[in-house]
Amino acid sequence: MVRFCIFGAGQMGKRHARTLAEHPNASVRSVCDLLPTAAATLAAQHDAITMPNMETALADPEVDAVVITTPASSHAELVVAAARAGKAIFCEKPLAEDIPNARTAVAEVKKAGVPSFMGFMKRFEPSHLALIQAVRAGDVGKVELVLLTNRDPKVTLLDYSRETHKTAPYTLLRESTVHDFDMARALLDDEPVEVYVAASNLVEPEIGRLGEVDAALTTLKTDSGALCTINNIWRTTYGYDQRVEVHGSEGMLRAENRPETSLVRYTAEGALHDRLLSGPPDGAQFYFHKYAEAYPREMNHFVESLAKGSPPLISVEDGYRSQLLVEAAVESLKTNRPARVAE
Ligand SMILES: NC(=O)c1ccc[n+]([C@@H]2O[C@H](COP(=O)([O-])OP(=O)(O)OC[C@H]3O[C@@H](n4cnc5c(N)ncnc54)[C@H](O)[C@@H]3O)[C@@H](O)[C@H]2O)c1
Repeated sequence: MVRFCIFGAGQMGKRHARTLAEHPNASVRSVCDLLPTAAATLAAQHDAITMPNMETALADPEVDAVVITTPASSHAELVVAAARAGKAIFCEKPLAEDIPNARTAVAEVKKAGVPSFMGFMKRFEPSHLALIQAVRAGDVGKVELVLLTNRDPKVTLLDYSRETHKTAPYTLLRESTVHDFDMARALLDDEPVEVYVAASNLVEPEIGRLGEVDAALTTLKTDSGALCTINNIWRTTYGYDQRVEVHGSEGMLRAENRPETSLVRYTAEGALHDRLLSGPPDGAQFYFHKYAEAYPREMNHFVESLAKGSPPLISVEDGYRSQLLVEAAVESLKTNRPARVAE
């Protein structure tokens, strides 16, 4: 039985706690949140105890692993503390808000020798996973072009932008595009070395007033010349648009969107399928619908890796590599030039 402490009892903490509670070989031992009522509510749902602070939570010998679902500004600190306490680590993206903290987090995890996982759940969505496996099996030959579409149906990160902006602006790149950077890395044959970003404020004027952007086109280039293009925007009229395409020397693979239902209406004007899978049109947590299978799959994978003693598919090292791409993207946006990815 792997016993977990959840840091951060918000929407992601609740989501992951549910998966752990349903797993036969995992349990939620404790919950720690800056808001005692949030911790108490989640703990009560899973027959767990609350912990008043990070130090007490990590000193508990009955905790084997942690789930870090606090905001990004505390991720690196919590990873370092958990590693030093000898706990296995599941950390939500992003790993950090800058390169030095990301580097320290990876170094401490390596030094402690604890298993780690980063919550890049998009890799676990069944079509994405099948596509990644097909690419890695050589189905398209040498990978030449990767095209990633990641468009949210609505702005949900405005409040988050306000908070993040104080510490590390460019919320779109740090919170959304970081998922695409991980997906790009999973699909390209080698690491990107150059990043170019063009971005705008097209959707919500308040985002522009904060000095943030809500639409971006990002290009990545690897040493061998392979290219990846990522397009992000924080508003569509037709649902959550998530597409992945890989072109290689021997063919092309594409993971398409799924509509809410398989219903197709045929009329004199043509055929119309349902809206793209996003949950209720006014719902904020559209990703819980599209990635409904991915969240439990990633957590179950982590628990099973711990049980088997095998390295999880994604680790804090991947979090670090994606952070390097985020920081290069921010630099490119600031300088309006391609930026080299740091080593
Ligand atoms: N993978 C995904 O699809 C996905 C989706 C949404 C959010 N996220 C990530 O998950 C993380 C959490 O996001 P959320 O939407 O659940 O946020 P949230 O605001 O719903 O919850 C965060 C919780 O953490 C608590 N908290 C803040 N600092 C803390 C600290 N130092 N120690 C303990 N508790 C602390 C807050 O009080 C709050 O209850 C973020 O890093 C975000 O980027 C990932």
